[in-house]
Amino acid sequence: MASSSNYFPFPIILLLPFLIITINIPESSSLPTPSSQAPTPNLSLDYYKTSCPDFVKIVRETVTSKQINNPTTAAATLRLFFHDCMVEGCDASVLVSSNSFNKAERDAHDNIALPGDGFDMIIRIKTALELTCPKTVSCADIISQATRDLVTMVGGPFYNVLLGRRDGLVSNSSRVDGNLPRTNMTMDNLISFFETRGFSIQEMVALSGAHTIGFSHCVEFRDRLFNYSPNTPTDPAINPKFAEALKKICANQEDTAMSAFNDVFTPGKFDNMYFQNLEKGLGLLATDSAMFMDKRTKPFVQLYAANQTQFFLDFGRAMEKLSVVGVKTGNEGEVRSRCDHFNNVSA
Ligand code: HEM
Ligand SMILES: *[C@@H]1O[C@H](CO)[C@@H](O)[C@H](O)[C@H]1NC(C)=O
Ligand SMILES: *[C@@H]1O[C@H](CO)[C@@H](O)[C@H](O)[C@H]1NC(C)=O
Ligand SMILES: *[C@@H]1O[C@H](CO)[C@@H](O)[C@H](O)[C@H]1NC(C)=O
Ligand SMILES: *[C@@H]1O[C@H](CO)[C@@H](O)[C@H](O)[C@H]1NC(C)=O
Repeated sequence: MASSSNYFPFPIILLLPFLIITINIPESSSLPTPSSQAPTPNLSLDYYKTSCPDFVKIVRETVTSKQINNPTTAAATLRLFFHDCMVEGCDASVLVSSNSFNKAERDAHDNIALPGDGFDMIIRIKTALELTCPKTVSCADIISQATRDLVTMVGGPFYNVLLGRRDGLVSNSSRVDGNLPRTNMTMDNLISFFETRGFSIQEMVALSGAHTIGFSHCVEFRDRLFNYSPNTPTDPAINPKFAEALKKICANQEDTAMSAFNDVFTPGKFDNMYFQNLEKGLGLLATDSAMFMDKRTKPFVQLYAANQTQFFLDFGRAMEKLSVVGVKTGNEGEVRSRCDHFNNVSA
C-alpha cells in the first residue's frame, strides 16, 4: 500500500544515557494558567454513541496492537496530528494522496519525512471502523482520538477529545509552506506563529513537550554541530559530550536516514524529561534549546521540568485546543470512505 510506505527506511540510532548531571530543580514561580478553550459547536464527546458505539473500543484496540508491534507509532501519529491541524485545520487533509491533478499536503517539503507508521495507524483504524460502521467516522476524528490514546499509552496524560469533525476537501502542498514551524525560526517567529493560531507562549512551550518522544533526522540539527557560525562550528548551547555523540551519528552527510532521539534519556516515554534535558543543554533542535534560552519561555520550561503534573495538565489542555483548530462540522466537508482519497475521486 503506497500510503503506508516509509519515505525514509531509517535505522534508529540509540543514544544511551551517557552522562549524569545533577538536576537543579528551580523554585516554581506562580505563572498564569493557559487561556481556556472556547466551546466548539457541533462537536461532542459522545458523537458516535449511537452511530458507532464501538468507536472508542476499536480505536483503542487498534492503537494498542500497532504501538506494541511498532513502538515508533506514537510519535509518528502525534506529529502527523500536529501537521494536519496546522494546515487547513484538523480535517485529515494531510492523509490525502497526490494524483496527477493535485500535489497533496503530504508531499510538501515539510511533510515528506512524516513517518509511514502514522499514516498506517490511521488506515488500520479506518479499515476496522468501515467494517463495523461504514461511512460514519471521519478520518479527522480518527487522528485526534488515536493521538490521544497513543499519548496516554506511552505514559502521557489523558485528555478529552471532542468528536464530530468532518474531513476536508482541500489538500494542496502549496498551503503547507509557512504553516508549519521550522527549526531555523527565531523565538519571535515561533511566538508569533503560535499566537496567530491562538496559542499563548505557555501553550507553545507545553506543546513543544511533544518532543519528549520520537526522533529527528540529522538534517534538522546538523548545522548546530558543524556549521553554527564561521568561528564557532558547534553551537555552545549544546552540552559538549552530547554534541560529540551527535557528531558521530551525523558525520556522514550522505546518509540522510541517520537520526537521533528527541529525548536522549527516555525516548519512548511521554514524560517531562524533554524539559529537564533543555536545562542541561540536551535539547536536540535549535528551537528546543531556544525554549530554555529565551526569557519569555524559560520560566515555563523550568516549571515543567520541575513539575510533571503541571506539564501534563497544560499539555492536555493545549492538545484539546489544538484538536479543534479549524474543524469542519455540520454540512462542511465530508466523511471520507478512504482516508487517502476524497470521496469523489476514484482510487
Ligand atoms: C515548536 C515548533 C516545532 C518545530 C520547529 C518542530 C520541528 C520538528 C522537527 C524538525 C522534527 C523532526 C522531523 C524529522 O526529522 O523526521 C520534529 C519531530 C517531532 N515533532 Fe515537532 N516541531 C515543533 C512543534 C511540535 C509540536 C507542537 C508537536 C505536537 C504537539 C510536535 C511533535 C513532534 C513529534 C512527536 C516528533 C517526532 C516524530 C517521530 O518520531 O516520528 N512538534 N519536530
Ligand atoms: C493549489 O494552490 C495553488 C496556489 O494557491 C493553486 O495555484 C493551485 O491551483 C492549487 N491546486 C489545486 C488542485 O487546487
Ligand atoms: C529556513 O530554512 C528554509 C529551508 O528549510 C528556508 O527556505 C528559509 O528561508 C529559512 N528561514 C530562515 C528564517 O532562515
Ligand atoms: C505541581 O503542579 C500541580 C498542578 O498544578 C500542583 O497541584 C502541585 O502542587 C505542584 N507540585 C509542586 C511540587 O509544586
Ligand atoms: C451544526 O450542524 C448543523 C446541522 O448539522 C448545521 O446546520 C450548523 O450550521 C452547524 N453549526 C456550526 C456552527 O457549524
